[in-house]
Amino acid sequence: MDRLMWVLVLTTLMWTTAQGIYVDNGNPYDNGTLEVMTLTISQHDAPLLTKVYYPKKIDTYAVLFFTGGLLGYIPVESYSIVLKAIASHGFVVVGVDYLPFSTVPSTYERDRDQRKVGDQTKKYLEELQWVTQHLEERIARQLNQTGLVPAFDHLGISCHSAGCDPIADMTFQNHTFSKAALFLEPFSYHFKTPVTFRMPALMYGTELSTQKPECIYVGEGYNHFYDFWQCPKIVMNVKSHGHCEILDPPTFEGK
Ligand SMILES: *[C@@H]1O[C@H](CO)[C@@H](O)[C@H](O)[C@H]1NC(C)=O
Ligand SMILES: *[C@@H]1O[C@H](CO)[C@@H](O)[C@H](O)[C@H]1NC(C)=O
Ligand SMILES: *[C@@H]1O[C@H](CO)[C@@H](O)[C@H](O)[C@H]1NC(C)=O
Repeated sequence: MDRLMWVLVLTTLMWTTAQGIYVDNGNPYDNGTLEVMTLTISQHDAPLLTKVYYPKKIDTYAVLFFTGGLLGYIPVESYSIVLKAIASHGFVVVGVDYLPFSTVPSTYERDRDQRKVGDQTKKYLEELQWVTQHLEERIARQLNQTGLVPAFDHLGISCHSAGCDPIADMTFQNHTFSKAALFLEPFSYHFKTPVTFRMPALMYGTELSTQKPECIYVGEGYNHFYDFWQCPKIVMNVKSHGHCEILDPPTFEGK
């Protein structure tokens, strides 16, 4: 990720922070100083397969709820470099897989069926409720120590690509559950009316994503999110970068 993006990402995340919450004063261009732990919660426990990246140091941290591309079918592990880097600056990052990767249909069709996104939104809301109730205890179990608090009253949401379809839908259903939104190359089939509420947001887009063969249709991508969102909002159009560059290199090279 380029340097300007880091500044904006961390600025967006700062919107989620406040008193009593760990605040990072480091250089956003570098990885943070905090050692990061990885916790996997299976679908037998939580409503969805969950990867949590969190600082090992006991403190109270703002939370980032993240979903990957293809409506959440791209596994969160594929974004581990970025998500761990965010966690190392003092955030509990809750990455959620809509389904294990093996279930992705081999020919992915553009899904314009409103009901499906509705189902996904419902599942994400259930998942969010579950982690709100159980994550602190799960982290304590992994650390053999209590005291690390994921502060769900300082929640930010983030998503990549069409993972932003259900995430945007969540904000339409509840305008206050999240303090800020970080839309990374967002894409939505259902975002048809301007929002009427205020939630600070950053829309990150890349120049190459809208060039042929395009990953994003201009009218449904980051500019569209920006046009339909209320202030405060920032749009960023990064030159010479593409839609999938946010993914870890092995996944990105596989595309
Ligand atoms: C941050 O850490 C990752 C490993 O998690 C590494 O690949 C990357 O190069 C580091 N970035 C910087 C700017 O040091
Ligand atoms: C917690 O305790 C278990 C079992 O004693 C151990 O395997 C694990 O490494 C400990 N975790 C930490 C973070 O110290
Ligand atoms: C929205 O979310 C907040 C925080 O989770 C909750 O307190 C509130 O009841 C929700 N509102 C609606 C309309 O569901």
